[in-house]
Amino acid sequence: MMSYETRLLTSSEEDIEYAAGLIRQGELVGMPTETVYGLAADAENPVAVKKIFEAKGRPQDNPLIVHLADISQIEEYVRDVPDIAYKLAENFCPGPLTMVLPKRDRIPDITSAGLDTVGIRIPGHKTARVLIKASGKAIAAPSANLSGSPSPTAAEHVMKDMEGRIPAVIDGGSCPVGVESTVISFEDGRIRLLRPGFVSAEELSEFAEVITDRHITEAASEGEQVRSPGMKYKHYSPKANVTIIEGSEKEYLKYVNSRGGEGVFAMPFDSTAADCKIPGISYGDTSEEQAARLFAVLREFDEIGARQVYAQCPSSDGVGLAVYNRLLRAAGFEIIKVQKE
Ligand code: TXA
Ligand code: MG
Repeated sequence: MMSYETRLLTSSEEDIEYAAGLIRQGELVGMPTETVYGLAADAENPVAVKKIFEAKGRPQDNPLIVHLADISQIEEYVRDVPDIAYKLAENFCPGPLTMVLPKRDRIPDITSAGLDTVGIRIPGHKTARVLIKASGKAIAAPSANLSGSPSPTAAEHVMKDMEGRIPAVIDGGSCPVGVESTVISFEDGRIRLLRPGFVSAEELSEFAEVITDRHITEAASEGEQVRSPGMKYKHYSPKANVTIIEGSEKEYLKYVNSRGGEGVFAMPFDSTAADCKIPGISYGDTSEEQAARLFAVLREFDEIGARQVYAQCPSSDGVGLAVYNRLLRAAGFEIIKVQKE
């Protein structure tokens, strides 16, 4: 792998033009989006896309999402787009929604990891769309973290993971949504939810029946077939062991307040934090706040050398399902139920 002096760019027109030039040359750029930072490359250039897998240390069987500046381009990259996809696009695009559709041949196999489908997303972040337009390319972009570590929600997270591995990162501030896009596919007029995100199952169900894949809240067993390859992998893991404590606030406090010791931390809601007797970092009260802060908080636990983190179990309604899904993976599905039956 090549070694780079990684430049931190701004969202100025000049800097974006420079980043767009890198994309056209088959290089990688750290790109802000409303969800998390992406590692952007020309989706139709297999040599460039290969660099994404190398820079992240990503398994080759995990497909990339293709980002477009405008929904009007969708049929250039995918076919058999159902009417419902256009209805969803009207309501949620640009925004944190990825639609998996049959790919056209111009999308190389390495981008779709050999699948005959590809996920398409129009990012809601203006800088991302301006970069895509300026490059004149469709942009493949996974989250810009090293494979297995928490997704980056600030340019400094991208620098931490990617410095020296890529030529540039555009600093677009912190990502307002904070968890990756909702990923869906279509099945006989129904929507299959493959990964929960800011566009919730409840919102989607106003347009069609939503089938929630069970791997959203359950671990896949060794060698089991999953509909979305990303569901197989342990993800978003900080170095500390994370355990989710499920129960009332009172039971959570009783549990964590009886722990303690070197490297043991609580990860409560903001409103619970004042009553925690062990050190900790809180991660918000509403599901939206928790989504926005989750990954940065997991990274902070690494910085302070946490060994064991006890997280207060989030709600799994609405956007909460995305928070719960990411936290479950960070915890390697380890949950302790403390509520009384
Ligand atoms: O918000 C996001 O989606 C961010 C930003 C950068 O756009 N990107 C992102 O990409 O999260 P990545 O590569 O970290 O996650 C893509 C997920 C993976 O779980 C992958 O398995 C799934 O989407 N996926 C991609 N293409 C798919 C396909 N054709 N069929 C099923 N799942 C697919
Ligand atoms: Mg990712």
